[in-house]
Amino acid sequence: MPARFITFEGIDGAGKTTHLDAVHERLRRAGGEVVRTREPGGTALAESLRALVLHQPMDALTEALLVFAARRDHLEQVIRPALARGASVLCDRFTDATFAYQGGGRSFDAAVLAQLESWVHGALQPDLTIWFDLPAAVAAERRGAARAPDRFEQQDAAFFERVREGYRQRAAAAPHRIVRIDAAQERDVVWRQIVGALESRQW
Ligand code: TYD
Repeated sequence: MPARFITFEGIDGAGKTTHLDAVHERLRRAGGEVVRTREPGGTALAESLRALVLHQPMDALTEALLVFAARRDHLEQVIRPALARGASVLCDRFTDATFAYQGGGRSFDAAVLAQLESWVHGALQPDLTIWFDLPAAVAAERRGAARAPDRFEQQDAAFFERVREGYRQRAAAAPHRIVRIDAAQERDVVWRQIVGALESRQW
């Protein structure tokens, strides 16, 4: 089985985690090693940076530098070695989230993000990105009040609509890599579309 780097994206509350679990199970059953990880995070250092990014006040450039620092460590320690030994990597968020949240949500300069992206991962991009797209109001309803919100979850609907627009722009620029799924549909329908995206690649 070829090594595949698959990322999962969308605004908070879009439902990507449930489907990530299901894709993990499907690939695992097909055989071969599958590494499941997340961003920011995935290494001890990157998880420490995640705690800062999610809970400490900071400006958008600081946020971008910290998520890319976390990403650099994660790539060097986990993602690149896994792909090199032939494992598939499933990652809950990656650089598209930086363009969406810091670029879209915080209105931070996309040219600076593109420079950081090229420094941190050069030509490496996911083989497939599944983008769970959902109106901000529907996502807010789904998130509910189950737990104390982090710095992003506390944002208003206008912020999440900007994040969504950030994802839309990334998807328009990379239509073969990024598959948009309408996450407002029934869960089974969403799952069938994910399976379709995998099968169309003979995965
Ligand atoms: P999330 O992936 O939603 O995890 P959980 O399901 O545990 O809440 O949380 C990560 C948050 O970090 C999310 O709100 C988006 C934000 N984020 C950025 O702002 N920039 C990034 O580059 C990444 C990877 C995440």
